[in-house]
Amino acid sequence: MFDLVIKNARLALAKDIIEAELAIKDGKIVRIAKDIASEDIIDAHNLLVLPGMVDVHVHFRDSKERHKEDWYTGSSAAVAGGVTSVVDHPNTIPPTTSVKSFKAKLREAERKSIVDFGINAGVVEGAELEKLWKRGVTAFGEIFMAESRGEMGVDDMALFKAFQTIAQLSGIACIHAEDEQIILERTKKLKDKTDPSAYSSSRPNSCEVAAMTKAIGLAHDVGAKLHICHLSTKESLNLIGAEITSEVTPHHLFLSQKDWERLGTFGKMNPPLRSELDRKSLWAGLHKIDMIASDHAPHTIEEKKQDIWSAPPGVPGVETSLPLMLSAVKKGRILLQRVIEFMATNPAKIFCLRGKGEIKVGNDADFVFVDLNDMKPIKDRNLHSKAGWTPFEGMDAIFPKMTFVRGEIVYDGEIVGEKGQGRFIPGRGADKPIYG
Ligand code: DOR
Ligand code: ZN
Repeated sequence: MFDLVIKNARLALAKDIIEAELAIKDGKIVRIAKDIASEDIIDAHNLLVLPGMVDVHVHFRDSKERHKEDWYTGSSAAVAGGVTSVVDHPNTIPPTTSVKSFKAKLREAERKSIVDFGINAGVVEGAELEKLWKRGVTAFGEIFMAESRGEMGVDDMALFKAFQTIAQLSGIACIHAEDEQIILERTKKLKDKTDPSAYSSSRPNSCEVAAMTKAIGLAHDVGAKLHICHLSTKESLNLIGAEITSEVTPHHLFLSQKDWERLGTFGKMNPPLRSELDRKSLWAGLHKIDMIASDHAPHTIEEKKQDIWSAPPGVPGVETSLPLMLSAVKKGRILLQRVIEFMATNPAKIFCLRGKGEIKVGNDADFVFVDLNDMKPIKDRNLHSKAGWTPFEGMDAIFPKMTFVRGEIVYDGEIVGEKGQGRFIPGRGADKPIYG
């Protein structure tokens, strides 16, 4: 009657952890109860069973940047880190700004991904926003208010026009909030410095605050819904209002300018490493933030070894986000239920990823087995991204034991998911849903 029943599980439901069994049929959770009979059983050995994590900010590259990451390696890193759904961002080569490039990315992901995925539309002058919305993109952005990677910076007028369209479509505008002018001026003054830490000074807190203030003002005028990507400063927390959602990255929660010495140019990302005060303020202000997203942005070791101004910005993170947060749970820093909200329930709800983010009857059978007593240091050689390095080397982490996507085991200490098992999750604008 059922395809599979998980026995001896401690299920992390929305409000409680309960001892119960989980029955799966056709990739969905169909029953949560005690003593469900079935021939096909997996014994969870009293491990915690969490919903699969939903990471709404990844850069899985592929296409012309396949040497950095492809959909198979990116999604392998995801499942080994307990992430079962991702949303890919548009600054790829080619950028996801037209139906043609969207279709090419969709085909590539459908052939190679192990995890389910959404795709965001890129916002530049002339981007086919309405058509992309109908194709089922998850959201718009990240919209680069300053140049970061991919030459997708937009000026104020283009931003305002995009907000008008996004408001008409009832979509979400995801903002990379950095102010171009401040960066240009600061960088001019600092360009002869060779110490990597100068990079943080080239994109100061005011850079994020100025861009966020502008985006909030413009979006408010036309009623566009805003989501702030990778919020990173203590001042930005005060700008969050009821209408705005936001995310924070594990690198801004676990790393700071103190790490420049250890990381060198490998610590370069946008927005940059902030002060210890910012880092601590982000932990203290988590109640104002909606979700944690990795901004998984892989670059090779060779690329990162250049001087601080030439090295590309970005760090890999999709595989280490949940493990780092679970170590924080173990250390009593945050409650497990909050981590699940930040990393599964809230992102799925806010970005309308149907069937995802929660263990409940009717949802997809995406989940992760974890043992909170098994804390280990992160080691780059165990990770699956093509990047081949991590800024979190040696830090405490609790990695999953097993990961399931729609009832299939995709990770059990090894990657066992098959290329192409992952499915596209159509967004709200899709006129003909492709699945289901
Ligand atoms: O550090 C970053 N890397 N920030 C971004 O906004 C883009 C990303 C990338 O694509 O490498
Ligand atoms: Zn960004």
